[in-house]
Amino acid sequence: MSNINVTEAALRRKQGAKWNSYPPNILPAWVADMDFNVAEPIRRALSDQISNSDFGYPLGAKDNGLLALFQSRVKKRFNWDIHESEVLILNDVVQGLYLGVSTFSDENESVVIQTPIYPPFLQAVTELSRIPLLQPLVATDGHFEIDFDKLESAINSSTKIFALCNPHNPTGRAFNLKELTKIGELCCRHDLIILSDEIHADLVYEPKTHIPIASISPEIRARTVTLMSASKAFNIAGLCMAFAHFGSSALKKKFETIPPHVRGGTNTLSVAAVRSAWTLCDSWLNDVRSILWRNRNLVSQFVLEEHPKIRYFPPEATYLAWLDLRRFEYKSSYQSYLMDTAKVAVSAGEDFGDDGRGFIRVNFATSPELLGEVLAKVGSALDLIS
Ligand SMILES: Cc1ncc(COP(=O)(O)O)c(C=O)c1O
Repeated sequence: MSNINVTEAALRRKQGAKWNSYPPNILPAWVADMDFNVAEPIRRALSDQISNSDFGYPLGAKDNGLLALFQSRVKKRFNWDIHESEVLILNDVVQGLYLGVSTFSDENESVVIQTPIYPPFLQAVTELSRIPLLQPLVATDGHFEIDFDKLESAINSSTKIFALCNPHNPTGRAFNLKELTKIGELCCRHDLIILSDEIHADLVYEPKTHIPIASISPEIRARTVTLMSASKAFNIAGLCMAFAHFGSSALKKKFETIPPHVRGGTNTLSVAAVRSAWTLCDSWLNDVRSILWRNRNLVSQFVLEEHPKIRYFPPEATYLAWLDLRRFEYKSSYQSYLMDTAKVAVSAGEDFGDDGRGFIRVNFATSPELLGEVLAKVGSALDLIS
């Protein structure tokens, strides 16, 4: 399939962070971009705009049709009934996290975060002078689980927000209906706003499915802000566009006290790309999901057959493998060790919070050949310290 026929030489010609943050002798498997070619209809839409010099101010969100498209998209993908009037367009999901935290809590109030966690969750809370209420996910047989008793007892009167990451980065958990219902009910009991980052929603592997937490009940919906985007699944993060759904008009009204120019949201190219992604690119997405599934299993095979000292729960969603290396003999950062010894750039577990120490996150959204090279290099470097 042409999507994965990417060569290292072509990837190194890209301008983005993944392939340019480290010297050319380093193979990158860190930031969450995919190495696959973007779907042909998206590239065509963008090149039409380029050849037509079509870079003027775009139509606003009310007129560009994307809110209605988002409404039909979430119905089709997740059987979630919403209305376009409940949605705002933002620049990106991380911006939504920052604006959500600053809108729905005050300084010195606390925000629940399930660690290890995608670093901007920690940054948003601490940089905005809120208190992170860290709730470690617990590794049990086969996956990470939520310790609901600990969670319930940690929440206090200064806790205002549950910042949920579902599917969860970096553990790859796609929380199930029972777990999400329990989280939702807990937030109702303690009057918490749920700020739900669902950017990986399109990348949940069967038989699991993505359940938007706001779709579970009217009570949970009424306290939930859901952040979604086409950027992860369609590999267009650099174009910058995200969608925020508000489960009540009160939540939306409060968020709209942020001036529109601070919220941003559309640019000429992102409008074209997202429209194309959500109307013309599902067969591309299906193909990519199959490749990711196979790559996910290559990582399992590498662990089981060659490096059983690594602890790895294959992700239920995302293209990120969260590898526990704590059974090896290295006492410092595995990310630095692998950079120096394997010449591979992975994400450092410690960046995902203290309980990520001793882990690495490997992005497996690349060709099977490059993934094989990444794993072989990591494996040889680990052999030196086992
Ligand atoms: C859970 C999660 N949220 C948000 C983002 C970034 O989203 P955006 O580029 O829209 O800010 C990522 C990127 O990897 C992510 O994994």
